[in-house]
Amino acid sequence: MKMTNEQKYRLIEQAEPGEIASLQEKVKQCHWRQTFHIQPSTGLLNDPNGFSYYQGEYHLFYQWFPLGTDHGMKYWYHLKSKDLVTWDNAGIGITPGDTFDSHGAYSGSALEHEGKLYMLYTGNTRDENWIRHPYQCMAVMDESGLITKWEHPVISNVPEGYTDHFRDPKLWKDGDSFYCVIGAQRTNATGCVVLYRSTDLHSWQFEGEIRTGLESFGYMWECPDYFELDGSGVLVFSPQGLEPSGDEYHNIYQSGYIIGKPLNTETRTLEHGAFRELDRGFDFYAPQTMVDPQGRRIMVAWMGLPDIDSPTDPNGWAHCLTLPRELILHEGKLLQRPVPELTALRRKREDRVADTLSSERKTYEGFTGTAYELICEVDLLSAKAFGIEFRASATERTVIKYDAVSRKLVLDRSQSGEPVAASYGEVRQCAWNEDHIKLHLFVDMSSVEIFVNDGEEVFTSRIFPHRESDEIHFFADKGEALFQAVKWDFTE
Ligand code: FRU
Repeated sequence: MKMTNEQKYRLIEQAEPGEIASLQEKVKQCHWRQTFHIQPSTGLLNDPNGFSYYQGEYHLFYQWFPLGTDHGMKYWYHLKSKDLVTWDNAGIGITPGDTFDSHGAYSGSALEHEGKLYMLYTGNTRDENWIRHPYQCMAVMDESGLITKWEHPVISNVPEGYTDHFRDPKLWKDGDSFYCVIGAQRTNATGCVVLYRSTDLHSWQFEGEIRTGLESFGYMWECPDYFELDGSGVLVFSPQGLEPSGDEYHNIYQSGYIIGKPLNTETRTLEHGAFRELDRGFDFYAPQTMVDPQGRRIMVAWMGLPDIDSPTDPNGWAHCLTLPRELILHEGKLLQRPVPELTALRRKREDRVADTLSSERKTYEGFTGTAYELICEVDLLSAKAFGIEFRASATERTVIKYDAVSRKLVLDRSQSGEPVAASYGEVRQCAWNEDHIKLHLFVDMSSVEIFVNDGEEVFTSRIFPHRESDEIHFFADKGEALFQAVKWDFTE
């Protein structure tokens, strides 16, 4: 049941007696709770925010509405980690409900400066006619972990030429200047990104729009992120309003990037190549990156999408974050690799198999599970297809396969279990041209992340199978395929 606006825009203190306990009780009953992904205790999680390294720890926040699975009053929930694997709950980071964030502390980012962590976020407000007015607000965390909001926004108006869809500031520092990009919509209903500059984090000048070659590319760009990687400039953003085209843009909204020469902050020009989607799966949105002390560019994203119901809604919670991935620039393209720290999730038990399949489908001793890591390398000999079915039973399966006839990698969740957003299609695919394929899967209770050939392509998806669907099958169609696989169970 959908909430009314009155129910949605409530703070935790305004919950009815027993309301949170009853949500917690429903959450406890849910067999789709994840075992190694970040998920909300109750309510709805969306974008990762404020991803940073401060005082010897990684800090990560997420958009959180605690009182239901609607997009209601958004808090920033705070997590900390020493290794990107185990996250400690640090409680609420930013509480909305003040004058300039009366209807939510929306997405934003964090940057360390002179021993403090500065968090720039969008305060969402609604006036009496329910018209939104965005403010860019600052909150600062000190060494003791105390987070204090500044009383006044640092950017309180939307510049001429843009609508109130103006949000999600991403900060960086270059020399003596601070910059931020903000996702925007022009008054002609096209999306873009604008640039602001500051020398003290207090006063911000509107520099103008980032000039890209994507003049008319969707109606709104959310969650922009600009960074430089190996001497190139990368702009990541989540455009809304793209029409499906070939194998691309089949989800409700997209997330991707353009790469070119570093941004010229004077002319604000970004010369770039084609827009590429970051992910080939069903559930990936609003990614955010940070650089860690080792110089790695690490990204996490929301493993979900706006305006899509989740099968866990009746269980009082929705959505989770992806695993952290390192971004690597390779031949003008971003590769995504799960951070090596994730090997800490592996338990002692390790199962291995090597076999040649000949027009058949097989299971192997030890190859079952509901939360595990699986690496499979295959050489397609004469087979027309090779694939893996996982979270499978007699009636359910999620399938990743290489179809050598169409030369496509294909993820099929049409038989995964409870359907999700099926009207957007239940198969995703992308072109693939190599006969040696490495599939690296992270399977959890209700998700899968598949890294192909060390991150050349990634398929990220939620799946909602029965708890008992734990089989893994390997198959080769119409010919032979040689493969080896290793699996680490994360539960035993
Ligand atoms: C993206 C988004 C952002 C906004 C936030 C609100 O999912 O719509 O643009 O800041 O979510 O929760």
